[in-house]
Amino acid sequence: MHLLLRRAIPPALKRVAPYTKISLRGYRLPTRSTSMAEENIKYLVRVKGGPLEVAKAPKPTDLASNDVLIRLKAVAINPADTKMIDEGHRVTSYPFVPGLDGSGIIEATGDAVERIKVSDEMIGLFQSNDRSGSFQTFAIVDEQKVTKKPPSWAFEEAATLGVCYATAIAALGIGLKTPLPFIIDGPRTGLVPSYILVLGGSSALGAAVIQLLRLALPDSTVFATSSPKHHTHIVNTLGAHRAFDRSSSSLVEDVKRGTPASQGLDAIVDVVGAGTSDIFEAFNPNGPKRYAQVWTGEDKIQTPEDVDSVLFRSRDLSQLQGGDNIMLSLQTLLEDGRYKLPLPVNNVGQGFEALQKALDLMRMGVSGEKLVVTF
Ligand SMILES: NC(=O)c1ccc[n+]([C@@H]2O[C@H](COP(=O)([O-])OP(=O)(O)OC[C@H]3O[C@@H](n4cnc5c(N)ncnc54)[C@H](OP(=O)(O)O)[C@@H]3O)[C@@H](O)[C@H]2O)c1
Repeated sequence: MHLLLRRAIPPALKRVAPYTKISLRGYRLPTRSTSMAEENIKYLVRVKGGPLEVAKAPKPTDLASNDVLIRLKAVAINPADTKMIDEGHRVTSYPFVPGLDGSGIIEATGDAVERIKVSDEMIGLFQSNDRSGSFQTFAIVDEQKVTKKPPSWAFEEAATLGVCYATAIAALGIGLKTPLPFIIDGPRTGLVPSYILVLGGSSALGAAVIQLLRLALPDSTVFATSSPKHHTHIVNTLGAHRAFDRSSSSLVEDVKRGTPASQGLDAIVDVVGAGTSDIFEAFNPNGPKRYAQVWTGEDKIQTPEDVDSVLFRSRDLSQLQGGDNIMLSLQTLLEDGRYKLPLPVNNVGQGFEALQKALDLMRMGVSGEKLVVTF
């Protein structure tokens, strides 16, 4: 593998059509020729906090028997991407290829793969490393980590599903410990809170949690907080019963008034690390007081002693009953139209520059949308 292109592209080069082979002051771009099309263009980071760089490698061929090779068509940006690139969060070795979300076309399959065929259009759950990061032309993942893209969904839309869906399963199954009736061989018993508040309903994770709560607990009432501009989406599209202004000074009182006799909540799912001491006053004093908080990479949020606080994260899914089946289960939900696009897509553009721009946008913070880049 060798370096092709560093962060800044000279202005003269930007005017040239993409994929035209050219040499200018030492910079080169790949061509569209057949042989070059088999190259793996990687967007990688060499040192902690270092810039994203472009490099090329041969198309990978070292598939294990349960692996699939995916040609990426679109990737979505997650907060974890910038935490990994900028702070080295959970990065074990360098150089590493970031990227946890993506969609694309199956290029090759391992010997034991039967469910998936070459040319299938897939949604994937990727891992930030040289082999499985989604910020490259070709990535290898286990077949359990992919699900078929519905034909009517654009690759850009499909790319946004994986991480927030998987982490939402962890929120319900590990954080709340609710039944998961839509997961093949998933838990069928567990906590059934009557009133649940999702802190961060307009985040990608919150949008997934709200939908899955409605599927898992159809008789429960789901509230969510966000900026007011997202309330219509949260209620009308995602299915929450009510949305509350996250900045309201009367949030606790407003939420409690939404429950019978103002008794309060049974559970809170905090997907953005928004738990403050006053929100715990919204709990029903006689309820389970379950507080499921996502691991954001920051310190765990401290809670009053009588609050049942549980940290959840997607990497613990292997501990969950049916955890290996979550992507196969997503396929059924999508085919039945029971799981919707969580958030509107902001397609930032194509290729390296768009990827850099999308990461910068993520660093500034997003509101109720998913940033996507096409390859
Ligand atoms: N450990 C894991 O496995 C894992 C997996 C996935 C995500 N995460 C973490 O979970 C968090 C959320 O991820 P994401 O992708 O869903 O983030 P995101 O979509 O980028 O989150 C942006 C949203 O957060 C909302 N928000 C920010 N502060 C809020 C507050 N105090 N109250 C309510 N809403 C608030 C904003 O709402 P408004 O614009 O409406 O104000 C905005 O829509 C991140 O910290 C991420 O790293 C962890």
